[in-house]
Amino acid sequence: MQRGLDLARAVEILAAGGLVAFPTETVYGLGADASRADAVERIFAAKGRPRAHPLIVHLAPGAQLDDWAIGIPDSARALAAAAWPGPLTIILAKGPRVSPATTGGSSTVGLRVPAHPVAQALLRAFDGGIAAPSANRFGAVSPTTADHVAGDLGDDVDYILDGGPCEVGVESTIVDLSRGRPVLLRPGGMPRAVIEAITGPLAAADDAAPAAPGTLASHYAPRAQVIAVAPEQVPAAVAAASAAGKRIAVLAPASAFLDWGALRADAHRLPDDDAGMARELYAALRDLDASGVDVVIAALPPAAGLGEAVGDRLLRAAGPRKDRS
Ligand code: TXA
Ligand code: MG
Repeated sequence: MQRGLDLARAVEILAAGGLVAFPTETVYGLGADASRADAVERIFAAKGRPRAHPLIVHLAPGAQLDDWAIGIPDSARALAAAAWPGPLTIILAKGPRVSPATTGGSSTVGLRVPAHPVAQALLRAFDGGIAAPSANRFGAVSPTTADHVAGDLGDDVDYILDGGPCEVGVESTIVDLSRGRPVLLRPGGMPRAVIEAITGPLAAADDAAPAAPGTLASHYAPRAQVIAVAPEQVPAAVAAASAAGKRIAVLAPASAFLDWGALRADAHRLPDDDAGMARELYAALRDLDASGVDVVIAALPPAAGLGEAVGDRLLRAAGPRKDRS
C-alpha cells in the first residue's frame, strides 16, 4: 500500500481496476470504478462485506444526474441542486452506467457529490463514478484519518490519498427518493432540518425501504462494549459496570458533568457542540479501544442537528453483537 497526495497515481490505479482510499468531508471512502464489476468486487473482498450490500456512487460537482439515474423526480433535482456538494446521499432508480455489482443487484443507486477538495479533484480527474463504502472492515467504526484506513485495510488497498482528518466525522445522511415520498434511511452529516426545508417532512424507514446494512443494529461497533444512556443515567451505569469488575470509560460532552473525577471511570470528553461531537466520535471510540477499556458508557446527546446522527451511531454501537462481522 502506498500513501500520499498523488492524484495522477490514484487515477491510474482506478483506471486499472484497483482500490484507492480517499478523504471525504464525512469519513474516508474505499473507492473503485463504479462502472466495472471486477473493480467493485475488490471492494467487497477487501472489506469483507456481503455482496448484496449496495455501495454509494460518488460524482464530481456538475456531474449529470441523468448519466447515473433514471426516472429522476423533481424533488431529487431540487435537493441535489441545494444540498450538493455535501454530506448527503440520494437514492434513485439506477441508470445503466452503474454496474449491478455496485448496487448489490438492487434497482436503485445511492448518489453523492462530496464536498472535500481532494475527493472532488479525484472525481474530476477520473471522469467517472467512484463506488465507495467507508474504508473500514465490515461492521467496524468508520475511518476519519488516513492512519485509521491504513490500520484497518493495510495492503488490501492500493493507494491512500491522505487529506488529513475528516471535518464532519459521521457518514452522509441517506434519503430515498426512489419511491415517491422522501424517506430518511440513515441520519448523518447533513442535519434533517436542512433537508426537510427542501423536501418537506422525511418519513421514517419502514419495511418496504431498500435494505441498508448501515442500519443493522450491530453496525459501527468498536471492540469494547458500548452502553448508551441519557447523561443523567451515566453515574448509575458506571456503578453497575464497576460492580461487575469491568474497566470503564465515560464518553460524554465535556460539560455533561461538573465533577468528572466523581464518576470513578476513565474520562473521554467530547466537544459540547453537535458538530464537534460528530467530528471526534469515531476517533474517540478507536482511542478507547486502543486504551483497553472493557466498557464505554456513552451519554446520548439531544437529537438536534448532528446530534441525531451521533445518537444513532452510539445506539448502533451499543446494539446486539451476535450479527457483527
Ligand atoms: O459518508 C458516506 O456516506 C461515506 C463516504 C465514503 O461517502 N460512505 C459510506 O458508505 O458510509 P457505506 O457503504 O459505509 O454506507 C453506505 C450505506 C449503506 O448502509 C448502504 O446499504 C446504503 O448506504 N446504500 C447504498 N446504496 C443504497 C441503495 N441503492 N439503496 C439503499 N441503501 C443504499
Ligand atoms: Mg460503512
